[in-house]
Amino acid sequence: MSPFMMSQKVHHRIHQYADEIRLAMKEGLTGSNLVERVTQLKKKLLSQPINISIESEQYSNGNYGRLLLHQDEEFEFIVAAMFWPPGSTSPIHDHGTWGVVGVAEGMLDVTKFDRLENEPEPILFSRPTIRAFPGMVDTVNPPHDEIHLVANPSKDSITISIHTYGKLMITHNVFDIKSGLAEERMLPQLTYPRI
Ligand SMILES: [Fe+2]
Repeated sequence: MSPFMMSQKVHHRIHQYADEIRLAMKEGLTGSNLVERVTQLKKKLLSQPINISIESEQYSNGNYGRLLLHQDEEFEFIVAAMFWPPGSTSPIHDHGTWGVVGVAEGMLDVTKFDRLENEPEPILFSRPTIRAFPGMVDTVNPPHDEIHLVANPSKDSITISIHTYGKLMITHNVFDIKSGLAEERMLPQLTYPRI
């Protein structure tokens, strides 16, 4: 049995969304222009419910689960759904690429950080946390807007978010709040078959 469920209609909408990103890239959009276009496309995608479910074993032990929805062979970007159990949180991290994140179900707290290069160790400054609800979209855009932490603040409901990144990542940089130093760490595996 497949570890996930998604209707043909949602499948089609995800691929339409990916096609529109491809079109933007073919037009030559890059940097913040591309992130802005993808943000608009993501808002359109999330204007209708995205019903995706996976077996709960895929995101047990407080960890989040990742489901790869699209990997673009030509332009390298990916679209993935993430499943956040109640109370789960990511470390403070960056991805080394642009990203557009939207909430499909539940709520997601997003906190961004600024990093000041300081001797002997850098300093991390937290920005105010933003609580995102279904349909809301946020972005990460290196080099000045990329360090962040995401968490599901709910005590009893799962959060599902749809992430679009400039490339497939196996690792990310995890930051220590006290020292401000970064360490490269493996991401939870994308264990699901491509759709
Ligand atoms: Fe992230």
